Amino acid sequence: MTPSYLRNILSLLGLFIVFVQCTDGSVSGEAVTTRFWDCCKPSCSWNGKGPLSKPVTSCDKDDKPLADVNAGTGCNGGTAYSCSDQQPWAVNDTFSYGFAGIFIQGHVEDFWCCACYQLDFTSDPLRNKTMIIQASNTAYDINTANRFSLAVPGGNTTSHDACAKQFGVDQTVFGETNTGISSIDDCDNLPEQLQAGCRWRFDWFQDASYPRYVCPFPQPSTYLMFYSANFKRVVCPAELTTKTGCSRNDDKELGSGKTSTATITKSSPSSSLVASLSMMIASLLSVYR
Ligand SMILES: *[C@@H]1O[C@H](CO)[C@@H](O)[C@H](O)[C@H]1NC(C)=O
Ligand SMILES: *[C@@H]1O[C@H](CO)[C@@H](O)[C@H](O)[C@H]1NC(C)=O
Ligand SMILES: *[C@@H]1O[C@H](CO)[C@@H](O)[C@H](O)[C@H]1NC(C)=O
Repeated sequence: MTPSYLRNILSLLGLFIVFVQCTDGSVSGEAVTTRFWDCCKPSCSWNGKGPLSKPVTSCDKDDKPLADVNAGTGCNGGTAYSCSDQQPWAVNDTFSYGFAGIFIQGHVEDFWCCACYQLDFTSDPLRNKTMIIQASNTAYDINTANRFSLAVPGGNTTSHDACAKQFGVDQTVFGETNTGISSIDDCDNLPEQLQAGCRWRFDWFQDASYPRYVCPFPQPSTYLMFYSANFKRVVCPAELTTKTGCSRNDDKELGSGKTSTATITKSSPSSSLVASLSMMIASLLSVYR
């Protein structure tokens, strides 16, 4: 198989996947997961981000909660950073809690700030594992899929040097831009309060990396993505809201059953996707044989 032939197939698949992703994903659906830990003030820490008890707690350099909701982000010269306790932890082999920057198609952040979602992972090696996360941040930079970017210390740095400023370390301690650190041993170099969440990535999360970017397509923003989790809105557990200080006023209706958390009844894109992809590959192979 020549590389150009492979590229053609992948481009076709990519276009197809972007097409089927235009489905409703309001309270439940399928999503890709990525990782981030940029030390910036979370987006849901500002005023006016939805019907919230109060914005997500952000912290100063010493990890002390900041009272001033208007404090600027450390990613832009300000004094507000992410609080270290908003990192993931495992309850048992199949269940973890955490926080995420998310994007749900057809919505903006006042829809998801401080809402909690159950993620049922559908791809190996995480199949059958579940997380409940609270959306403390927003991930607008990829909008071709529902996305949950999990807040994992050392999991993925950006070009900002907010982590260096927050902790007085070299930014390289947090790893490389777009990938983060590369082994569990590197977690030892992180500030101590971030090491547990860093190690979580390599044990409970098995260093899973989604979406799998198979190949960049002609349009730079279009990638071939595999769904890696089903998500649905759930009432936020106190385990999460005590750390962010934030809960949504509409959680009460969710809890009383007035708002349905039932999965949207639609045919699953994944099964039809798999079928169509198989057909497409089969026909391409027969043409080129
Ligand atoms: C790191 O973050 C960027 C920007 O959101 C994203 O494109 C990339 O997929 C992330 N990498 C991982 C390994 O999650
Ligand atoms: C793991 O913890 C969750 C949440 O407490 C619980 O629902 C589940 O039954 C536990 N699973 C096992 C295998 O202990
Ligand atoms: C996931 O759960 C199903 C049903 O309980 C089971 O058959 C399957 O082996 C499990 N997969 C993994 C990877 O644990």
